[in-house]
Amino acid sequence: MEKFKLSLQLTHNAIEVLKRRYLKKDEEGKIIETPEELFHRVATAIAQIDAIYGKSEKDVNKTKEEFYELMTTLKFLPNSPTLMNAGTPLGQLSACFVLPVEDSMEGIFDAVKYAAIIHKSGGGTGFSFSRLRPKGDVVGSTKGISSGPVSFMSVFDSATEAVKQGGRRRGANMGLLRVDHPDIVEFIKCKDDLTKFTNFNISVGLTEEFMKAVINDEEYDLINPRTLQTVKRLKAKEVFDLIVHQAWKNGEPGIVFLDRINATNPTPELGEIEATNPCGEQPLLPYESCNLGSINLAKMVRNNTVDWEVLRSTVWKAVHFLDNVIDANRYPLEIIEKNTKANRKIGLGVMGWADMLVQLKIPYNSKEALSLAEELMKFILQEGRNASQELAKERGTFPNYPKSIYYGKMPLRNATITTVAPTGTLSIIAGCSSGIEPLFAICFARNVMDGTRLVEVNSYFRKEMEKLGLWSDALAEKIAETGSIQEIKEIPEEIKKIFVTAHEISPSEHIRMQAAFQQYVDNAVSKTVNLPNHATEEDVREVYLLAYRLGCKGVTVYRDGSRQGQVIQKTKTE
Ligand code: CDP
Repeated sequence: MEKFKLSLQLTHNAIEVLKRRYLKKDEEGKIIETPEELFHRVATAIAQIDAIYGKSEKDVNKTKEEFYELMTTLKFLPNSPTLMNAGTPLGQLSACFVLPVEDSMEGIFDAVKYAAIIHKSGGGTGFSFSRLRPKGDVVGSTKGISSGPVSFMSVFDSATEAVKQGGRRRGANMGLLRVDHPDIVEFIKCKDDLTKFTNFNISVGLTEEFMKAVINDEEYDLINPRTLQTVKRLKAKEVFDLIVHQAWKNGEPGIVFLDRINATNPTPELGEIEATNPCGEQPLLPYESCNLGSINLAKMVRNNTVDWEVLRSTVWKAVHFLDNVIDANRYPLEIIEKNTKANRKIGLGVMGWADMLVQLKIPYNSKEALSLAEELMKFILQEGRNASQELAKERGTFPNYPKSIYYGKMPLRNATITTVAPTGTLSIIAGCSSGIEPLFAICFARNVMDGTRLVEVNSYFRKEMEKLGLWSDALAEKIAETGSIQEIKEIPEEIKKIFVTAHEISPSEHIRMQAAFQQYVDNAVSKTVNLPNHATEEDVREVYLLAYRLGCKGVTVYRDGSRQGQVIQKTKTE
């Protein structure tokens, strides 16, 4: 350990999260590793893979140091399962899985079982229920009638609920149904009862044909997946309006542009992509998994500009890291191992984007921010591809490369390289803003368990205000009332422009940011379009249509206060 003496600077919240869920515990639940030891455990397990590819012990040690430095400086973190499980007997390292749900009892209950196994190991599962015959359709073997996708979804939901108690994080699912499935209306409304499907995010899979029918105000076909017969026609606009209404009401369903996802499917010969992981950023083939990792952009700024050289070297090391994870991983099922290793998809993304912008003094809702987003993500994708090609020279291309869209053009080690994840917990560990989201509040109050009230302040804001001699605790208290600084007289205009929060950014500006990143992301981008409580259904419709026009692969909206037990609130209670 002599070599690993870097001092790790973690926030109070980061340490709490690590203690609660990431640091290794003995059988009595006593924590038996420090955060430094966690990163050492992960660096060792992931670097060790280089030996399989013929590297000497000395080289493996060098890689280990590189990986350790990458994580302890908080420049890059792999997804939570890698931090939790690398170098432990469990060894399951991926956050994202997609399982097929076949139209048979065996198929459905196999998927339930596989999902439980994946949840236990910290992974999230996405399912398309589109292959299931509709409610009321015949069941040959029993001459009975089918319960339909929504009814079977509740079996998955209950199983997830039961496994939850054992795992370190609650199991998460994505349920997707194609818009041309006969049960689509029931599906769109299935979360009306807020006590149901609490372990599911739901999304409607929209087709190009459907979107055209919406725009031209036409009818479209509902098709029984068992018989491939059209069973009914609906007015596309009415279905679209229903989706909009529900999303306005409680944030769901989200939408996913299925044909667009398949238009960039790197291996179309292997079949269609039907679903994504729980938060929507990772479309995958059936029985495929993917491991993610995020670069902390807050650490990529030097002398008030982007430090492109540090970013470049971070991308290269991160691609190496994530490619190694694929081999270090212990897969919950053989078929998932086979498929994952055949495409070797990785999902390298970013977090701390809002923190980068405030350091550069660029307002989130500005043209300059959009063009930097493009420039930055283009750079990450390009360097990521360079790094993946270099790995391919040493280790070979991904086995399905001859069946991929890259064949003969770009010999890559990985079928996909970039994904922007929500980084819900990673951003807490790294102490940065999450994913590509804007700041949520500049100051907010938190009631801690012993009853005291703690006001948390954005550190960049505090620094700027101190420089101007304008900082005071009373000011922090005042800001914490709303989270926003826009209405506070003593704060200079320049500061107000830079420290904008999610609700001061218009819905279309949210979407434009998502679309700017999406252009250079192989997979998809996780982003929540925050709407004020007074937003109308028309506002939601505009967001959805703009996302479609600008080339996004999916959208999630959330209208402030529309869901009970809202996860992130300006005033948090622990
Ligand atoms: O920050 P962290 O690595 O914990 O996760 P994230 O970036 O917020 O989420 C990335 C992915 O992890 C999600 O899309 C899910 O596939 C998975 N996930 C999960 O399975 N269960 C959770 N409670 C949270 C995330």
